[in-house]
Parts: sequence; C-alpha cells; structure tokens
Amino acid sequence: MMQEDIVIAPWLMMNNAEQLSNRIKADLQETAREFTALFPGEAPVGWILGEDSHSLEARAYFEILLSTAAYLSHMRLGTLVITEEISSVATSLLRRYLSSYGSSFILSMYACIMLHLDAQLLHYYGKVPEGIFVSGEWHRPWIDYTLEKELEACVKAGLFQRIAENGESFIQLTVEGEALFQQYHDHLKQAGYLKQREQLIRASNFTNMEDYEAIMTQSFVNIRGYRRQLLERSGIRPGMKVLELGCGCGALTLDAGLWRLVGESGKVVATDISVGMIERAKRKLTSRTAPRVDFQPAAAENLPFPDNEFDAVVGMMFLHFTDIPKVFAEIRRVTKAGGKFTTLFGLSVPVQKDFFMEWFQPVVEQGLAEDNSAPLPKESCVPTIAGQYFRDFTCETVETVFDLSKVENVVRFVAQAGTLADLNSLPWKARESLFQVLIDRGYAIRGKYGAEGMKRIQPAQWFQGTVDKP
Ligand SMILES: C[S@@+](CC[C@H](N)C(=O)[O-])C[C@H]1O[C@@H](n2cnc3c(N)ncnc32)[C@H](O)[C@@H]1O
Repeated sequence: MMQEDIVIAPWLMMNNAEQLSNRIKADLQETAREFTALFPGEAPVGWILGEDSHSLEARAYFEILLSTAAYLSHMRLGTLVITEEISSVATSLLRRYLSSYGSSFILSMYACIMLHLDAQLLHYYGKVPEGIFVSGEWHRPWIDYTLEKELEACVKAGLFQRIAENGESFIQLTVEGEALFQQYHDHLKQAGYLKQREQLIRASNFTNMEDYEAIMTQSFVNIRGYRRQLLERSGIRPGMKVLELGCGCGALTLDAGLWRLVGESGKVVATDISVGMIERAKRKLTSRTAPRVDFQPAAAENLPFPDNEFDAVVGMMFLHFTDIPKVFAEIRRVTKAGGKFTTLFGLSVPVQKDFFMEWFQPVVEQGLAEDNSAPLPKESCVPTIAGQYFRDFTCETVETVFDLSKVENVVRFVAQAGTLADLNSLPWKARESLFQVLIDRGYAIRGKYGAEGMKRIQPAQWFQGTVDKP
C-alpha cells in the first residue's frame, strides 16, 4: 500500500489535528460514506471490531483518507496543513486502490492495526479502566466514536477480559489475547509496518522542528568544526556533481560551504527525508547559492536518481537513522565508479552510569534503549557491511561531545526525532506522559549536576568508501 501512497496511520493526524478545517473533515467523512456504498467490505472483516461492517467501513475509510492526506502533506509539502487539494489527491488514490484491489485486504489491515493498538495499550498498562478504554483517550485519541462494540467483540472472542477492582471495571488481556498481540506485533514488524511507522513519525517530528539548527548547534559541541572536516575529507573538487544525503536545513550544503567546493560548473543535489527540513533549507538559498544547489526531498534508501549520476556523496549525521545496507546499495547505484562517499555518524554508547542514564532511567527500565541508544549502530556494524558495497574504505572512531543542559530540547530531540525512536512504539498516552516525566527529571538532574555537569561523550565514526563497479 505504501507503493500506492495509501497510509493507515491515524496517529499521524495528531500532528495535524488543529490544522484540519471542519469543512475538509466533513467532506472526507462524506467520501468515506460514498466509498462504503461503492466498496463494501466482505463478511469476515466487520466482526473483528464488533461493528456491523457498514459502520466499520465508514470509519476505516475516513481514517485512511485522513492519514493518507496527512502523510502526503508531510512528505510532499512539508506542512501540517491538510488542504482541499491534498485531501482530493488522497481521495483519488484510495478510489484507485479500491477499484484495482477491492476492499478486503485494506479493511483487514485496518482492523489488524486497530486491534494491535488496543492490545498494545493493555499489554503496556496491564489493566485499563473500562471507561478509558472505550473512550480511546489513551491510545486512539483521534477517534470520535466509542470502542464499546470493539470491546464486546474482543471479550466474546476471549481476547480481553473484565475485572472488577474497588467497584471499578478494568480491562485486561487474556492469555490468548497476549498471544494474539505478540503474533500481530510480529506480523506488523515482519511486514515492515512498524519500521515504516517509526520513520514516518520521525520525519514528521523533524518537519515540526522549526528550531532544529539552533538545537543542534547548542548541543553538538563544535558541530561546525566537524562539518568543515567532513568537507576537507570528501575530496570534492570544482566541476563535480555531488549528492548530499540527510541534509537537514542545509547547514553543510550552505553554511559550511559545500556549494562553494563544487565551483561554478559543479552542482550539489541535497536531499532529506523530511520535507519540512528541505523547505527550511530552500528558504536559505540566495542568488549566489541557488544556481549551484538543488534541494529535493528523498529517503536515502530510495533515491530518485538514475544510475551513475554523481561524482561523490556526502552526508552529516544521518546514516544512523537509516537502513544502512539499503543506503549503501543506493549510493553505489547512483555514484560513478571511483566516486567517494564520506560521512560522520553516531555510534551506540556502552552503558555507563552517568547523569544521562539517571535522567533517562524510565526509558531504560522499559527496555526501550537496551544499549542506552537503541538504534545507533555499534562500532563494528558499518565496517562489516561496507565491504559488500565499497572497494576500499576507512573507518575512524572519534569522541564527540554533547552538551545536554537544555533539558526540553534534549528530550524533544532525543526522544522524538533522535535515537530513542522506540518510544514511538508506546501507546499514545504513555509516550506523551513519558516526555513530560523526562522533562521533569531533566530539570531535577540539572539541579543536581549543574549545567556544566551535563556534557556527555558520544562516540561517532568517520567513514569513507570508494564505489566499486564492474
Ligand atoms: C541530525 S540531522 C542532520 C542534518 C544535517 N546533515 C546537519 O548536519 O545538520 C539528521 C537528518 O537526517 C534526516 N533523515 C533521517 N532519516 C533519513 C532517511 N532515511 N533518509 C534521508 N534523510 C533522513 C532527518 O530528516 C534529519 O534532517
């Protein structure tokens, strides 16, 4: 469905909630009703969520339309506003999809994702007051219907159960429900849904981060020096066509002077998965830099360029966010033989007892940051993969320093866009509460250690490889 640009990700709408006009919402609801008549679901789907299939389809189609529109706004326009135009693009995409493939797969996927959200809530909290469950407040805050029928169906199917405590009714998973949750979780993981969701949330968080550059400059000590070093190491010469990956808002491209290195006859194509970042970068172009630089949205794993297009590739602090083998394969494809890829990226940190661990203890306790920086690659990771894609390569580990004394920025950056992205796999309410807990703890830690005591060594790795082709 991603290939068709159809997205079932209603949580994406939460970033857009205030930006959706009532008229567009009403129009999409009307379209959803129209689709319900045109593309009714098949019998087995409705029962899963306890709805007669008619009302299930209406809300499924509405949420799919809205999340597709939110996705398109983020990815294509880098904005949070859902316009009439974008909502009509979402409508045509879904209409085309349903006409080609029918309704049963997409409705089953919708039901599976919603059930996974329900079960994830119960799995995380152990038990949840019935009123909270049916309101969806803690895990599906975008809904304007109740989950009563869904609850009844799941109780009847033996997946959830009611327990009474102090006169209040709570819902919890049964043993079968827990097993089904694990099974759904594994399915969604294997299908790449969870990874894709993490990437979408991160891209939308980067899109929302208007003050990214200020946060980065404040917290990454000497980031400007590292950007200069990257350019020195890259060997870029005038006349080259250079691809930059994960360019953010153009700090390496423009401020550090990559545009200057390629000279008048050269070109920089600077890309980033977050359209918001790209839009901010474009706003910085001037009459001198614009002729040499093109900013374009693109995921590094899927580059919209022909083979052998570039003489060199660079990227600063982006590789640790990506699927590294896919990115290396794409770099090899789009780069001419002998072209060099140069980058600096973060490495996972060995667990150390320091102010940061004390601060992020609630995250560590939940096993969300096993190595204290979950998705960051280990020191041996890139050298192990690189040989398959590059003729010769060098890796050099360095110790960078992060100043983490600006508490709210750190929580926002680390937890929402940075390396603790697994937080995104928590139920909505748990994630929001955890952010607040982390901010409160951060201020307590600053009180204890002082701003000066909140510097931390973050190992990083320089990598340079030469593209090898037959
Ligand atoms: C820490 S910022 C670095 C930005 C810039 N290179 C700099 O020096 O300031 C990481 C950037 O990588 C981008 N990014 C994350 N995952 C990506 C992916 N899969 N493909 C391309 N860019 C990605 C983010 O949107 C973000 O702008």
